Amino acid sequence: MSTNLPGTPGTALQEPGAARAASESCAPLVVYFSSVSNNTHRFVEKLAARAVRLPLLTGEEPPEMTEPFVLVAPTYGRPNGSGAVPPQVVKFLNREANRRLLRGVIGAGNTNFGPAFCLAADKIAAKCDVPVLYKFELMGTSEDVRKVNEGLEQFWRQFPQPRA
Ligand SMILES: Cc1cc2nc3c(=O)[nH]c(=O)nc-3n(C[C@H](O)[C@H](O)[C@H](O)COP(=O)(O)O)c2cc1C
Repeated sequence: MSTNLPGTPGTALQEPGAARAASESCAPLVVYFSSVSNNTHRFVEKLAARAVRLPLLTGEEPPEMTEPFVLVAPTYGRPNGSGAVPPQVVKFLNREANRRLLRGVIGAGNTNFGPAFCLAADKIAAKCDVPVLYKFELMGTSEDVRKVNEGLEQFWRQFPQPRA
């Protein structure tokens, strides 16, 4: 779809490599929300990243992060144009510690929504002063997975890695 992630075309991580990288503690950390339709979940599980899923129910407490992460958020707009950012994501970002550790946002959406495509990512990026790294549609394509894996790997290098 579209990207602001660094990356060199043609050096995709293969699935076994992705699984190996994700199991390493220095692998990129992704926090994501996915509703019962699970589109975002299906995308995230293909990434070479450690992943934390936000609770489905707003009544549940969101996690408090202790290391930098990239947020993957689908858009859920209301017919009147309001909303966009799922309330579960709002609750997560209302924790100051989580906003402080947020390094970038990846948007999920559906191009049928025209100018509101991935609006949640744009709103989060503006509010939290972080870049929109990428936008993809529904559960993404294999090309989206390849580009995000490449870009995340490079993007992640600029952050201090935890000691082994
Ligand atoms: C009620 C509703 C509103 C939506 N509004 C938008 C929107 O404004 N912009 C957009 O890009 N996608 C919109 N979508 C599409 C979802 O973001 C898309 O289906 C996404 O893949 C859902 O992710 P999930 O299955 O992980 O929850 C909407 C979907 C629903 C059901």
